[in-house]
Amino acid sequence: MTFEELIEVKRDGSEHTRSQIDRIVLGYASGEVPEYQMSAWLMAAYLNGLSADETVWLTDAMVRSGRIVDLSSIPGIKVDKHSTGGVADTTTLVLAPLVAACGAPFAKMSGRGLGFTGGTLDKLESIPGMRIELSAADFLDQVVRVGVAVIAQSPDIDPADKKMYALRDVTATVPSIPLIVGSIISKKVAGGADAVLLDVKVGSGAFMKTEKEARHLAGELTRVGVALGKDIHCVMSDMDQPLGMAVGNALEVIEAIETLRCTGPVELTELCVALAGRMLVLGGVAESEGDGRWQAEQALSSGAAMRVFERWIETQGGDPRVAADVSRLPRAHFTREVTAEEGGFVVRMDAECIGRAAMMLGAGRAVADDVIDPGAGMLLDVRIGHEIAPGDRLATLYASTVDQLDAGEERLRASIELGPDRVSPPPLFHEV
Ligand code: URA
Ligand code: CA
Repeated sequence: MTFEELIEVKRDGSEHTRSQIDRIVLGYASGEVPEYQMSAWLMAAYLNGLSADETVWLTDAMVRSGRIVDLSSIPGIKVDKHSTGGVADTTTLVLAPLVAACGAPFAKMSGRGLGFTGGTLDKLESIPGMRIELSAADFLDQVVRVGVAVIAQSPDIDPADKKMYALRDVTATVPSIPLIVGSIISKKVAGGADAVLLDVKVGSGAFMKTEKEARHLAGELTRVGVALGKDIHCVMSDMDQPLGMAVGNALEVIEAIETLRCTGPVELTELCVALAGRMLVLGGVAESEGDGRWQAEQALSSGAAMRVFERWIETQGGDPRVAADVSRLPRAHFTREVTAEEGGFVVRMDAECIGRAAMMLGAGRAVADDVIDPGAGMLLDVRIGHEIAPGDRLATLYASTVDQLDAGEERLRASIELGPDRVSPPPLFHEV
């Protein structure tokens, strides 16, 4: 069969065989199949879907496009965590030292931000000196010695996902459940952890805008993960407004440091404690979720998690003094306070639009090789349900040019909707 005939199979809504899926995925990963043909196949898959078997085969082929990380030299049960992507989601920066302080090893390969969602690697790189590329041996050694390492995914791990994700991003084929499942689960299987906790985001700042879609995605992630031998657990958490109050790289590092000092935003703190509680159970360190939560709360209030954070940053080449003195982190030159022109209740905050506003301030990339301004972004003052008087501050913006401030302000204003009646804030968890 030619590749053109393989596209026809999916275009006409038929089911591929396992060997056909292998040819598509491995052919594209190896460079044999050109982007224009893969683009056509991705759109056919987006429109007609993939069957239950096809999704498992796709994921398995993606894993086999590269190497599988061997974490067996790290003692204990290795638990990985992955969020499906959101705005002001600073969780990993807090969770990594938090679970490590409780005795569960945290060995994670992370991605960069693309479009309106932020990426852990970009946040880490805003810390002066921080290295996010380590050799496999140094990565494993650091996890054994310090309990935590977060690095860039090396190019020989799941190369199919790297190429397919980049192509999906420019062909409007990202929000497809089977393609998202293949992308996430293949990375998690190749990443070598024993168990995975997935934080499926729901709402205006997530790929899944409704609870129904998110529940379907969570079910599929679990089914395909289990079919490939992984212990997968999902939570569904809210992304109808930004999780934290900071959007931008160094600004989110500061927010993570505040959360480790027990002075961070309530929602971010609660999500980190809840996820840590579950990870500690999966890692065999806690007997129950209640016990896991208790251990995580102790690690925060005793300062143990903060000490692990400092050691982690220092071991990866970063300046650990940022923990005590956040002014050592970069900050964009210009700031502007955005104040409300009218009063009312905050009834809606479009998290995707806020992510785009941060991008315009210089905090994100529109295309993969855009350069990020590590000190740019915004600190929000309001959340859904707050009452606002005219003149109240909505946010403080940070950027390197006045034009960026203007563009960011316009976008931010468009993303916050005020109304005459009080609304209740969305729940942090939609389902566990
Ligand atoms: N996150 C991923 O890693 N892949 C997707 O396809 C979507 C979100
Ligand atoms: Ca996109």
